[in-house]
Amino acid sequence: MGKTVFVLNGPNLNTLGKREPAIYGGKNLAAIEADCHETAAELGLSIDFRQSNHEGYLVDWIQEAGDRAAAIVINPGAYGHTSIALHDAIRSVAPLPAIEVHLSNIHAREPFRHHTMTSPVVTGVICGLGPLGYTLALRALAARI
Ligand code: DQA
Repeated sequence: MGKTVFVLNGPNLNTLGKREPAIYGGKNLAAIEADCHETAAELGLSIDFRQSNHEGYLVDWIQEAGDRAAAIVINPGAYGHTSIALHDAIRSVAPLPAIEVHLSNIHAREPFRHHTMTSPVVTGVICGLGPLGYTLALRALAARI
């Protein structure tokens, strides 16, 4: 088993597949997890894939990643737009590489989605590419860790 990448998913991502498919697509989170495992195996990485609707769990998992993971992929969902706690947690595990992923192009949507609290403290951001964003993030991280 290679290095571990935590793939963390925030609120409402458990409903992918049935949630606003015109925006988020028809793939559910389990299928995205399967894609991530496949890409991780190809890259010689192992992944720990998690989802929570609770901000505090995401903070706990980022802190845990600081001890146990080589990198983080995070789709913070709506907490990305609001959470100073996630911003601080990601900062607290620096210089651990972290890539923020959004399925949708948040810049092409409502103005309240244009800003994220998390983007200033991550290594990079991928948005608007749907589930492909997750596996591209893993490839980018594999090149750095
Ligand atoms: C999202 C975009 C956010 O604005 C939204 O709140 C989500 C999903 C995305 O993956 O496109 O829950 O992070």
